[in-house]
Amino acid sequence: MKYQEIIDKMTIEEKAAFLAGKGEWQTREISRLGIPSIFCSDGPHGVRKQAGAGDHLGLNESLPATCFPTAATVANSWDTELGEMMGEALGEEAMALGVNVLLGPGLNIKRSPLCGRNFEYFSEDPYLAGKMAASYVRGIQSKGVYACPKHFAVNSQELRRMAMNAVVDERTLREIYLTGFEIAVKEGKAKTIMSAYNEVNGTYANENRHLLKDILRDEWGFDGIVITDWGASNDHALGVAAGSNLEMPNPGLGSARELIEAVNSGKISETDVDDRVDELLGVVMTLHVNAQNKKDSFDRKAHHEIAGMVSAQSSVLLKNENTILPLKKGARVAVIGDFAFTPRYQGAGSSLVNVTKLETVSELISNYDLQVVGESRGYKRNGEEDAAMKKEALDLASKADIVLYFFGLNEDSESEGMDRTHMRIPQNQITLLQELGQVNPNLVGVISAGSAIEMPWHHYFKALLHCYLNGQAGAGAALDILTGKVNPSGKLSETIPRRLEDTPCFRYYPSRERTSEYREGIYVGYRYYEKTGMPMLYPFGFGLSYTKFLYSNLKIVDGKGISLTVKNDGNIDGAEVIQMYVGLPNTKIFRPEKELKGFKKIFLKAGESRSVEIDFDDKTFRYFNVRTNKWEKEEGDYEIKIGASSADIRLQGMIHVKGTTDILPYCEEKMKSYFTGKIENVPDTEFEELLGRVIPDGKWSGLLTENDAFCQMYYAKSGLARLVYKKLTAMEKKADESGKPDLNTLFIYNMPFRAMAKMTGGAVDMEMVKGIVKIVNGHAFSGIGQMICGYFRNMYRNKKYEKALIKE
Ligand code: BGC
Repeated sequence: MKYQEIIDKMTIEEKAAFLAGKGEWQTREISRLGIPSIFCSDGPHGVRKQAGAGDHLGLNESLPATCFPTAATVANSWDTELGEMMGEALGEEAMALGVNVLLGPGLNIKRSPLCGRNFEYFSEDPYLAGKMAASYVRGIQSKGVYACPKHFAVNSQELRRMAMNAVVDERTLREIYLTGFEIAVKEGKAKTIMSAYNEVNGTYANENRHLLKDILRDEWGFDGIVITDWGASNDHALGVAAGSNLEMPNPGLGSARELIEAVNSGKISETDVDDRVDELLGVVMTLHVNAQNKKDSFDRKAHHEIAGMVSAQSSVLLKNENTILPLKKGARVAVIGDFAFTPRYQGAGSSLVNVTKLETVSELISNYDLQVVGESRGYKRNGEEDAAMKKEALDLASKADIVLYFFGLNEDSESEGMDRTHMRIPQNQITLLQELGQVNPNLVGVISAGSAIEMPWHHYFKALLHCYLNGQAGAGAALDILTGKVNPSGKLSETIPRRLEDTPCFRYYPSRERTSEYREGIYVGYRYYEKTGMPMLYPFGFGLSYTKFLYSNLKIVDGKGISLTVKNDGNIDGAEVIQMYVGLPNTKIFRPEKELKGFKKIFLKAGESRSVEIDFDDKTFRYFNVRTNKWEKEEGDYEIKIGASSADIRLQGMIHVKGTTDILPYCEEKMKSYFTGKIENVPDTEFEELLGRVIPDGKWSGLLTENDAFCQMYYAKSGLARLVYKKLTAMEKKADESGKPDLNTLFIYNMPFRAMAKMTGGAVDMEMVKGIVKIVNGHAFSGIGQMICGYFRNMYRNKKYEKALIKE
C-alpha cells in the first residue's frame, strides 16, 4: 500500500469516517495526519460549484460558469478533439473555482428516447459514447482535476432510479452498457467513477463486485476511486468490500458506524477498508497537490467562444429543400418562437449551470446581413394556447419571405428525476406551425430539445436545424449556420424514430415494478431499426452539409484498418464525419446488421481531397461469449461498410477474420426473437435463455422494505402512509401541470426509505428508517417506539463518534 505509513496511524473511526463525505460536496479532512479535504462538483457540461447551501438537484444557486452544450449535443460533433478542448475548458474552470473532482461526463446509453436524462448522455451507441467521454476525461484531467464518468452502470431510466433492478444479460451488459465506460477508463484514464443508484442483476451497482471489482478494476485496470451517486449507497460495508471508496453526500456517522460493526463482526475485513482508504488517499493527496498555486479565474470570454464553437460543430442540419439554407444576404426573415427570446439551452437537475452570459437569437440577429421583418414569441412556453400571440405571429409571417421558427421541448419535458411519457413537443407549438404553413411556405425550423422527439410535422419545413441543447453561446452558433458563416457538420448520435411505438423497448420501458427487464437485449437504437427494417425518420449518423463529399478508393489492410479518399466536391469548405461500420452476414450468434467501430471527422477546403485512415482496434470484431465468459471473435467474412450515416453506406469491403473459439453461445431454435431481431414481445422462455437464469420476480408482494421507494407506499398497509402517498402523488401531478418539474418532490417520490439515512447528514440513521418502515407496514406503535429510541441512540452514538475523531 502506498500510504501504509498514514494508514497505520489512522484509527478505525478515522478510516471509516474518511470513506464518506463531509457536507454535500467535500471529503473529510484529518488534520492531525495532514489529510486534506477535496471538493466535488457537477458537472458534465459546466461547473456547478455551490458556494452556499448545497443540493444535488440544481436547486440552489451556484457560482457563474460557462454552460457548454450538453453531452447529447456534443456527441453530434463526432469530434474527439473538440471534446478534449471542451474538457480542458471545463477542467480550467473547475480548478479556478476550487473544484477537484468534476462529476461528469454522463455516458449512460440512450436505451429509450424517454429517459429524462438523455440530454446529459452521449448516444445510443457505446463506441461513440465511449470515445466522446474519453475525450472529455482527457481534457478535464489535463488540468489537474479528475473527471468522474457516471453513472456506472445501466442507469438508463429515471423513474424510481434509486429503487430499481436492471435485469440484463451479460452480453448486452458488456457490449452495450459497459463498453462506453471501458473506453472512458482505458483510453481516457478516468481516475474516478460514479456508481449508479440502481441495482444491476439484483445487486446495487455500488455493491456490485462483478462491476466494481471483476470488470472495472481487474479487467480494465482502473486504479482510481469509486464515488457513489448522491445517496446511492445501500450497505456501505458491502460497497467497500466490493471496491467502492467514497459514500456521498455526507451520510452522517451512521455509515461509518456500520462499517466498523461490519469489520468487528467479520462481515468484511479491515484489509478491505485499508485498501479503499489507500486508494482514496492517493486521489485526495494528488488532487490537493495539483491545486497548489492554482489560478483563481478563467477567461470567460474565451470559454464563451469555445462553447459557441462546440455548439456550431454539433448542430445537425436535418433537412434543406431547394437549398433554402444558407440564407441569402439581405433575406427578409420573420423571427418567430419563444425560444428565440428565452432560449432552451440546458436541462434541469444536477447539471444545471449558472451561466456567465446568455445569448439569444432575438438580441444577436441584427448583427447578421438579414432584413428582419419582425420578431414574435408566437406561443406560450407552458403549452397554453394564446390566440393573440398566434395572430401576431401569423401576421408577421405573412409579411416575410422566410420564417425562422424557434421551437422544441419545454423545460418541463426533460429533467433528471423523471422520464418522459411521450415524445411529442407541446401541441400549441405544433398548432402554430400548421398555421404558419398556411401563410408562408418558406419555413425554416430551429429545434431545441435534448432528446429525440417525434416530428410528424417535419414536412412543413423546407429546412430543419436541430440544435439539441446548445449551451449559453448556442444562439450565435445557430445564426452562424443559418447564414452560412459556418457550414453544418453535426451528425445524429441517436436515431430519430417516426414514433414512440417504433422504439425497441417500447413495451419494456419504463419498468413500473421492482425490475426493469432489458428484454430487447443488444437491439438498442439503429441496431434494432436496421435488423428489422423498421422505418425511421432520421437515421443514426445522419446530418447534412452545405457542400458534398465524395468517398472513393477503399482499401482494407489486414489486421490494421482501412483507408479511403474523401473529396469535398462542392464550393464551400466543410467538415465530414466518416463512419466505419462492421457486420458479419453469416453469423452463427445473433448480431445487428452492422455496428459502429470507428469514425473520423475531417475538415476539407472546397475541392480538396484527402486520404483518411481509420484503425481497427480490440473492439472491431469482438463479441462477448457468455459460454466462454470472454470476449471472442467469430470466424467469418466481415463486411466493412464506410458511410456518411448508418443508412448511407458509400463504400464496402470484406475481410476474413479467424475465430478464437469453437464454443458458440446460443441455440437459434430457442431464441427466435433474438436471431430475427423481433424483440418487441420476447417470451419469457427466450428471455430466460438469454439471461441464462430464471427471470427474477419483479412483482410486489408482502411488506415494504427500506429499499422500496416512497411511491410504492401505494402498497402500504398503513392508512397514514397511503395518505402520504396520495399527497405526494398530488404534489407531483400539480408540479407536472405547472409546467416546471418540482425536482424535490420528484426525488422524494422516487427515493427509497433508506435514503433518509443517507441524505440527512446524520439526523436519521438506519435504525430510525427501520422504525419508519414498520409504521408504513402497519405496525405503528413498535415503529414509533423504534424511531424515538433510534433518534436518541443515534444522537448519542454520533456524539461519541465525534469525540473519538478529535485526536491530537
Ligand atoms: C445525480 C448525479 C450528480 C449528483 C450530485 C445525483 O442526483 O444523479 O449525476 O452528480 O446528484 O449532484
